[in-house]
Amino acid sequence: MKNHKRTLVTSALPYANGPVHIGHLAGVYVPADIYVRYLRMRGEEVLFVCGSDEHGVPITIKALREGCSPQDVVDKYHQVIKDSFAEFGISFDIYSRTSSDIHRQTASDFFRKLYDEGKFIEKESEHFFDTEAEMFLADRYIVGTCPKCGAEGAYGDQCEKCGSSLSPEELINPHSTVSGSTPIKKVTKHWYLPLNNYEGWLKEWILDGHKEWKTNVYGQCKSWIDSGLQPRAVSRDLNWGVPVPVEGSKGKVLYVWFDAPIGYISNTKELLPDSWEKWWKSEDTKLVHFIGKDNIVFHCIVFPSMLKAHGGYILPENVPANEFLNLEGGKISTSRNWAVWLHEYLRDFPNHQDALRYVLCANAPETKDNDFTWKDFQTRNNSELVAILGNFVNRAVVLCHKYFGGQVPANAKPADIDRETIAQIPAIKAAIEDNIEHYKFREALKEAMNLARLGNKYISDTEPWKVAKEDLDRTASILYNSIQICADIAIACAPFLPFSMEKLAAMLRMEKVCWDEIGKAEILPAGHQLGAAELLFSKIEDDAIDAQMQRLEEIKKANEAAAAAAAAANAPKVDPAKAECTFEDFEKMDIRTATVLKAERVPNTDKLLHLTIDTGLDQREIVSGIAEYYTPEEMVGRQICILANLQPRKIRGIMSQGMILMARQADGKMRFITPAETLANGATIG
Ligand code: 2FM
Ligand code: ZN
Repeated sequence: MKNHKRTLVTSALPYANGPVHIGHLAGVYVPADIYVRYLRMRGEEVLFVCGSDEHGVPITIKALREGCSPQDVVDKYHQVIKDSFAEFGISFDIYSRTSSDIHRQTASDFFRKLYDEGKFIEKESEHFFDTEAEMFLADRYIVGTCPKCGAEGAYGDQCEKCGSSLSPEELINPHSTVSGSTPIKKVTKHWYLPLNNYEGWLKEWILDGHKEWKTNVYGQCKSWIDSGLQPRAVSRDLNWGVPVPVEGSKGKVLYVWFDAPIGYISNTKELLPDSWEKWWKSEDTKLVHFIGKDNIVFHCIVFPSMLKAHGGYILPENVPANEFLNLEGGKISTSRNWAVWLHEYLRDFPNHQDALRYVLCANAPETKDNDFTWKDFQTRNNSELVAILGNFVNRAVVLCHKYFGGQVPANAKPADIDRETIAQIPAIKAAIEDNIEHYKFREALKEAMNLARLGNKYISDTEPWKVAKEDLDRTASILYNSIQICADIAIACAPFLPFSMEKLAAMLRMEKVCWDEIGKAEILPAGHQLGAAELLFSKIEDDAIDAQMQRLEEIKKANEAAAAAAAAANAPKVDPAKAECTFEDFEKMDIRTATVLKAERVPNTDKLLHLTIDTGLDQREIVSGIAEYYTPEEMVGRQICILANLQPRKIRGIMSQGMILMARQADGKMRFITPAETLANGATIG
C-alpha cells in the first residue's frame, strides 16, 4: 500500500428529484461518514465532498410530473436532502450542487479538452423522437408493453414489473410520456468516449492492480471488462444540463453521468479555490469513492477512463460500494413509496438519529442485500444501545456521583479483574481500526460495542453498589476503571454515534476526544470532575413501531389497489382520450333527462331502434343504434339521458332529433346512462 498524506472521500451525489431514505444512508452516507470521522479523529488530513446531482432525465421527469421547471425541482430537493444529511450528522466539508456555475464551467471545460484533443468519436445514430413535443426522447420517456412479461407501462430502459433491462426498440406499442404520441426514429449526432481504447489499461489497473477491492466491486468490474467495452455516448438531446460546448450542438447537453462525477472536482474547487489541486492532482492523495452497487461501472470504469483521457488527475484508490438495503422484505422504491424517508423518521423519532445510524451500520448491506425491519430496529435500540451502552455509562456516572461527589475516584485498591478487563482494550481498538480501514463498518461497530459489553460485564461482575457498603477503596477502583472505559467508549464509538458520544464526552467533561487515547491507562485522572448523569438513549416503545408497521401496511394496500386498477385498465383497451374542449364547448351541449314512451325496430335494419321520448320540453323521435344491446320491450318506460340540441338528421326516412347518451365498455358493448334515481324529464345535466 502506498503511503498517503491525505484522503479525499467522496460519496455519490444523490439525484435532487426526491428526498433521501434509509437505503441511501445505509449504503453510502453512513459508512462514508464513519470513515471520515475516524480519519479526522486520527488527526489525518481529510476532505469529505458531496452535493446534489441536478441534471439528467430523473430531474426532467420529476418536473414533468409535478408540472414545474427542472430548476424548481432541484431547488426544492437540494434543500430537503441537504437538511436531512445535516440532521443525521453526515459531516461533509461541502455539500454543493451540479447546477452551480463553477460546476457547469468545470464540466464544460473538461469536455472541451477531451473534444479538442480528439479523445471522443462522433457518431450519428437513430433515436426516438416525439414529433408533437418536438424533442428526442430519453429511454425513460418512452413507455409501452413489456416484451418479456406483457406488463403495460414498461419504460424504455427497464420494466419495473419483471425487472428486465430493455431498450425502447423492444417495447410493444411504444409511446411518448410527454405527448402520448407514437415516437418516430430520427437521426442525431452524439459524442462517444471510446471505452474500448481503455480496456487494456483498465485490465491492468483494476484486475491486476486492485485485487484488494471488495469482491462485489471487483467482480462487477471484471465482468464488464471481460465482456468487452463499447464506446459510450457522453452527450444527450435534452434541454436540461450542461450545454455541449461545441459549435452547432444546440439542444444537446452533457450526459448526466459525464457531468455528475466531475461534480466531485467542482465541489472541491468551490470549497478550496486555491488548494483544490493538491486533492485531485497529487499522488499523495488517496481518493475513495463511497457509492451504491448501481454506480459501480461509472466510478470504476467510466469516470477513471475520463480522468485518464484528461490526464493530470489521480484515480480512486478504492471504491467500497455497498449492496442494497430492503425494507421489510421488499425492495425500497420511491415510486411505490416503499421507503423510510429521513425527514419523516426525524419527525417520528426526534433526537434518535444515532439509533438509526446504529441500526443501519449494524445491518449494513456490505456484502449482500440486507433487510431493514422495524422490529430489528426496536430490538437493537432497546437491547443494545439502551440496555448495554446506555446502561453501563449511566451506572458508572451515577455511582461516581453517589459515592465520590461526581469526581473520578483514585484507583485505590486494584484487583486482577480490573487488569484483565483493561488489558482487553488495545486489541479491541486495533480491531476497530483494521475493520474501518478495510471498509468493514459492521464489524468495526461490533468491536466498538464490545467495549460497552466489556464495561457492562465488568460493572455487573464487580457490583460496586454492593462493595460500597463495606469497602469504599475497592469501590473507588471499580469506578475509576469504569470511567476510563466510558471514556474509551466516548472516543471509539464517536465515528458511529456522533450525537450521543458528544453528549457522553460532555458528561465526562473530556477536553479532547482523540483516537489514540483509547486504551490508555488513565484517560481521565483521579479527581477529574464529571458532569451530571444524563441518559444517552431512550427506549422505543411498541406503539411507535406499530405505527410504522401500520403505515407500511397501508402503503402496501394502496400499492396493491393501484396494481389491480392498472391490471384492470390494461386488460381491454379503453378509447383514447379526446382533444381538450373549452367550458364554452361543453356549455353548448343541452343534455337532459328523458323517458322512452315507445320503441320499435326500424324495418330492414339490425341495429336501429325508433324511439319516441318525452324530453320534458316536448315529445320527439330519435333513431338510435342500440338494437344490438336492447330489445324494444326493454326500452319502454326507461329513463335515459339525451343530447337534446344535436342537429336533427334524417335516418331511414325518420327525422331523428337528438342523441341518447350511452357508455361504451371496453368490450365494445353499450349501456344507457340512467340517473341514479328517477328524475323529472327535462332535468338538465352539466
Ligand atoms: O445514482 C445516483 O443517484 C446518481 N445521482 C449518482 C451520481 S454519483 C456521481 F457520479 F456523481
Ligand atoms: Zn416486464
